[in-house]
Amino acid sequence: MAFDLSLELLRVVEQAAIACAHTMGQGDRHGSDRAAVEAMRATLDSVPIDGTIVIGEGERDEAPMLFIGEKVGQGATGVKGLPEVDIAVDPLEGTNLCALGEYNAIAVLAAASKSGLLHAPDLYMEKLVVGPRAKHAVSLDRPVKDNLKSIAKALDRDVDDLVIMVLDRPRHEKLIADIRAAGARIRLIGDGDLSAGIAAAVDGSGVHAVMGTGGAPEGVLTAAAMRCLGGEIYARLVVAKPEDEERCLKMGITDFRRIYAAGDLASGEAITFVATGVTDGALMKGVRFFGHGTRTSSIVMQNEPHQIRFIDTIHVTDRGSDLRIRF
Ligand code: FBP
Repeated sequence: MAFDLSLELLRVVEQAAIACAHTMGQGDRHGSDRAAVEAMRATLDSVPIDGTIVIGEGERDEAPMLFIGEKVGQGATGVKGLPEVDIAVDPLEGTNLCALGEYNAIAVLAAASKSGLLHAPDLYMEKLVVGPRAKHAVSLDRPVKDNLKSIAKALDRDVDDLVIMVLDRPRHEKLIADIRAAGARIRLIGDGDLSAGIAAAVDGSGVHAVMGTGGAPEGVLTAAAMRCLGGEIYARLVVAKPEDEERCLKMGITDFRRIYAAGDLASGEAITFVATGVTDGALMKGVRFFGHGTRTSSIVMQNEPHQIRFIDTIHVTDRGSDLRIRF
């Protein structure tokens, strides 16, 4: 991407987060997701790009909006000569978290120059996410205890000082037992391995790695974030059934056992990653509504120019009232 779209894309995730934050705790995960999708779709059309959704809400027949292959941005409204951009979205990462008012729901979008993001099928993916200091010390094929020892060494601490985030799922019974046997600490999360991955790449977040199997689309988005944060994701698709193989082949993936790194999943030279907190999380606060406005907390990252911004925005909705801005 020749010019900087980061603040335009920030608006997109801010609006998605605000829309679904209104539904927080209502217990309606589909309603929360719909609110985020509709707001994201509407805001995207004002962005000066010729965009194509490559990771989205699913195939065209199952998703009315933001489906894979959908054209977005001003290009979709007929404007010509705009930069071609591939877009990966998760309008509400952690639908249950928002519906239940729990921590770490976020609205997310990543953009790259054309073909800069893997067109991953919506399958599961084994993942290992670590920060910059541990990225050369681990492998998806090594036993858990060996990876933990290497992470601890890279971070200059003991294994029992580590905190590993794992999705709380029955499929992770053995992984959890292995981490416990090695002596590391675990934070089990109900949902949201993408925000967990971002936290693992940021010093001081209190998270040192993410391990386990989660969604492949979230894996590609995590990779985009790692390209900006200098962390790493190692990932392998879980191709268990002949239908899974077909879905991979349709997307041009022929090596089903391939281990991908961030640079393979998000290979684009110009990556932008934006996310806004919906509910409170380790790095971003959730959306706060007050009498005359709304406050959002976001992260905006690019690898070219390489910059990471934490952005706190006050969206003033009632211009007539006396504003009181609190730091
Ligand atoms: P949604 O926001 O789409 O509900 O996804 C949340 C999530 O927890 C992801 O963070 C994770 O990668 C995936 O679901 C795990 O899938 P499953 O819930 O099927 O184990």
